[in-house]
Amino acid sequence: MTKICLINGDGVGKEVIPAAAEVLAALGLGLEFVEAYAGFGHFTHSGDAIPDATLADVAACGVALFGATSSPSTKVAGYRSPILALRKAFDLYANLRPVQSLPGSFSRQDLNLLIVRENTEGLYAGRERLDGDTAIAERVITRRGSTRIVRVAFEQARKRVRGSGFRDRGAVVTVVHKANVLKVTDGLFRECALAVAKDYPDVAMKEMLVDAMAMRLVRDPENFDVIVTTNLFGDILSDEASALIGGLGVAPSANVGEKAAVFEPVHGSAPDIAGQGVANPIGAILSAAMLLDHIGQGEAAQRMRRAVNATIEQGVLPRDLGGMATTREVTRGVVGNL
Ligand code: IPM
Ligand code: MN
Repeated sequence: MTKICLINGDGVGKEVIPAAAEVLAALGLGLEFVEAYAGFGHFTHSGDAIPDATLADVAACGVALFGATSSPSTKVAGYRSPILALRKAFDLYANLRPVQSLPGSFSRQDLNLLIVRENTEGLYAGRERLDGDTAIAERVITRRGSTRIVRVAFEQARKRVRGSGFRDRGAVVTVVHKANVLKVTDGLFRECALAVAKDYPDVAMKEMLVDAMAMRLVRDPENFDVIVTTNLFGDILSDEASALIGGLGVAPSANVGEKAAVFEPVHGSAPDIAGQGVANPIGAILSAAMLLDHIGQGEAAQRMRRAVNATIEQGVLPRDLGGMATTREVTRGVVGNL
């Protein structure tokens, strides 16, 4: 039996993960759920943001669904961001963030792009220091890290050609960097990308500077297929891209490594609306669909996506998409449409 670790975390994570789990359970696949803890709330009463027991549960399950956690913007002694800790502990180096049109007026149409974000290095390497009045962050780019993430992007591009009837243009990977300024770090990232591209003669490669990419995502996102980039650029571009399909509430993601994978909605813990029962569960539900794809349950994943689309078409929309539906109502709608 497949075991799925559920980590609600803080804020709306406590609402959207149970919603996604309810949809998963309704598929009747006999999935088993293992609840685990992490987050600022857990930290304040236990002193641990992500206990070893949670790491052990993720390791045992191999797959986890993670909500969101609240992290203060200043240093709190002993606190570490649980999602960053998970990425590091399991070397979840590939962050997959699909941006697909949804059938509502809140979403642009004809979009089917995938942002592949390097998830372990770059400006997230954790090498920040204060030297007198000068603050310094080291941006770590390695040949190994760059090569493996670009390879994921090309593999995904290939798979998507086979997988969807949506596309007729052929697979294209756009490598996004800022090598004109960051000549050493992004110079290496670019060099690795060009080398990997040689192994994929069936997939076209383009490159684009990150500032131009930010503009193109607004101007003509439908012209892009797979985008691969370094950690912080991918973080920023994926939030930007989510706005094209309705915002952070609907955007799913996967953090994938060789031994484990953690699926999470791109949105945060949203303390402003937490506890009111109005959070949008679609990002979490679509993340659960990515989890199903990952464990070889592609058919069930598609059933979930179709049910989400049907719910949207019926006008059962949460507040952030312009409707009045509660988390429960959206979830019940999706379950009913399975
Ligand atoms: C994300 C989030 C995280 C990140 C935060 C919560 C550390 O913004 O998953 O995109 O910056 O990677
Ligand atoms: Mn982010």
